[in-house]
Amino acid sequence: MSSNHKSSHAQWGSRVGFILAATGSAVGLGNIWKFPYMTGQSGGSAFVLTYLLCIAFIGLPILVAEWLIGRRGQKNPIHAMEDVAQQNRRSKAWKLVGVSGVLGSFLILSFYSVIGGWAVDYIFITASGAFNGMDGQATESLFTGFLGNPSQLLTWHSIFMLLTVVIVAMGVSGGLERASKLMMPALALVLLVLVAYGAFFTNSFGAAAAYLFSPNWSAINGTVILAALGHAFFTLSLGMGIMMAYGSYLGQEVNLIKTARTVVILDTVIALFAGLAIFPLVFAHHLEPSSGPGLIFITLPIAFGNMTGGTLLGVLFFILLTFAALTSSISLLEPTVELLEEKTPLSRKAATAVAGGAIWLLGIACLLSFNSWSDVMIFGNNIFDALDKLTSKLMLPLTGLATIIFAGWFMNQESIRQELGLSGAAYTVWKIVSRFIAPIGVIIVFVASLLG
Ligand code: PHE
Ligand code: NA
Repeated sequence: MSSNHKSSHAQWGSRVGFILAATGSAVGLGNIWKFPYMTGQSGGSAFVLTYLLCIAFIGLPILVAEWLIGRRGQKNPIHAMEDVAQQNRRSKAWKLVGVSGVLGSFLILSFYSVIGGWAVDYIFITASGAFNGMDGQATESLFTGFLGNPSQLLTWHSIFMLLTVVIVAMGVSGGLERASKLMMPALALVLLVLVAYGAFFTNSFGAAAAYLFSPNWSAINGTVILAALGHAFFTLSLGMGIMMAYGSYLGQEVNLIKTARTVVILDTVIALFAGLAIFPLVFAHHLEPSSGPGLIFITLPIAFGNMTGGTLLGVLFFILLTFAALTSSISLLEPTVELLEEKTPLSRKAATAVAGGAIWLLGIACLLSFNSWSDVMIFGNNIFDALDKLTSKLMLPLTGLATIIFAGWFMNQESIRQELGLSGAAYTVWKIVSRFIAPIGVIIVFVASLLG
């Protein structure tokens, strides 16, 4: 297939560069903001354990499939799907998978940027020493006041979106990714300090660990499973053509399965650390685990406000969180920019501004749903919830399903076997997972969620 490599299409200098970009996209608010609050809303370990199963048996193979198709297609996701379909003499309609992906990334970035803005603002709030000595009630009411202030949310949403646009327009994401080589371990380290705080300075670490990990099978139902599946897609940046696009920059020598395993493990470890840092504080301070999107902004400040050096650590934490969010948000902006660049006469800079502007506008609707527009409902959800559910629970899984069905059933299997470098039993496992377990898993989740 290397004859398909366009000479104009740059390759990653190294496997490391690629892993950094892919991990940069994967590790973000999804791990530290979303994973804990989803866990709290979906009954703890019931969610965590199904999530881990979804990651291993559905997320990992779909990640491999996206890279595989991207490496073949050597183009943006829509055209990659179209091309690879044609190489395999399949219908051009497969490009709809790419279309849905671009739309998904557009919608996700609109609310992602709002939350990214919270992270940036919390750098300054922490720095001001506002959390010193605060208990859970105080950090909660500070957060509630913050949410109720549309102009404050708008300011920080705008700043976060602007940062994203500037980075994408200047094409400096390479530097950012290299920086994340330092930032990611630093983030993990700060989280570990917070885990230790929960372990040694609260009396609730055991309760938190049990809540997260001790099996509670009776709490598993269709709703929990769908939430876990949706989050598996969200956290690995799947079902949007983003990983497919990254795959198009990937040289043939890179081992896709090993690389995918690395990215998945890093992503999962960061999420679990976040859970272990947050839930001891939730229980020790009698906070509501199911309180929703504000969870980390209410819990972690308690630790920052009550430990030695907490202000410094807190500032560092929110800076690192902002960087993690930015390496994800730039990957979310890229598909729309690429599409505009290709389909319109706009230059890259103009395309970035237009795409960023449109997403920023939608983000305003989203931030208002936390206050002035909180009673605007779409099928019983406020705008933020509606966008989140539409993407995570519907678009990403369906797009991912199409991707894995395409790779498992519609591509030349012998060439995939060679490309993955598999033989014997390992190939049989891949085949069973990609043809049956992953697609049937997604379908079962949908059926289960319909049954409630
Ligand atoms: N995976 C990112 C996170 O966990 C979010 C994201 C979703 C990024 C989809 C790109 C695409 O924060
Ligand atoms: Na993630």
